[in-house]
Amino acid sequence: MVKLGVNLDHVATIRQQRYTPYPDMLTAIKISEESGADSITMHLREDRRHIQFEDIKIARKNIKTKLNLEMAATEEMCVIANQIKPDFICIVPEKRQELTTEGGLDVKKYFSKIKNVVSELSESNAVISLFIEPDIEIIGLAKDLDVGAIELHTGKYAEAKNEDKKYYLDKIKTASDYANDIALVVNAGHGLDYTNVKEVARIDNIHELNIGHSIIAESIFLGLSEAIKKMKNLIESSK
Ligand code: PXP
Repeated sequence: MVKLGVNLDHVATIRQQRYTPYPDMLTAIKISEESGADSITMHLREDRRHIQFEDIKIARKNIKTKLNLEMAATEEMCVIANQIKPDFICIVPEKRQELTTEGGLDVKKYFSKIKNVVSELSESNAVISLFIEPDIEIIGLAKDLDVGAIELHTGKYAEAKNEDKKYYLDKIKTASDYANDIALVVNAGHGLDYTNVKEVARIDNIHELNIGHSIIAESIFLGLSEAIKKMKNLIESSK
């Protein structure tokens, strides 16, 4: 069964909007795990716009499932990750001006930088993953970097209209098969919501989907628990 990683960044976004102590992150973690999350994802950004270092510490101490830390390939983040020791680390590209992560890592351009970061992160004992576009060449480079997993960027599929949708879905399918053949764990995420998740969950070899924005948005109407259960049901009924 495809697993569901729940990204709680936007619980922190609401809190940081007013610097209130609520919504409480520990409560969000507990509800997520009780409602079917297989892992909890947090992205500690350089600008600390949502998740704070304190959130990661609370998460590490209390998470019963798995902690997936998303991070930029920086020295500061390597130090933090090696200290926190998450179960998974997903290296993502990061720009200060972006609203959310735009596109996958440019593995070709930053090959040696990412190589150094991956090697530095060995102290964390985490499974390292790279957030990349569904592209065979990039997947090959990821394998050369000796990581255990990749996360395929599903943003283009999520945003595509009409026949483009099938084009981008097919790219994810081909990428997923290829990565599986070369023994990489395949995760996927970005822009997945209640209307487009089933097609991705149906793809062979996908291990886990990481979903945040749509779940937190739906929880305004349903509550966090029901929003997670609804997503989990869609994933489980997709095959
Ligand atoms: N995966 C990665 C690597 C991401 O950076 C994000 C966004 O933080 C997600 C998944 C989740 O995307 P969304 O919030 O659109 O579900």
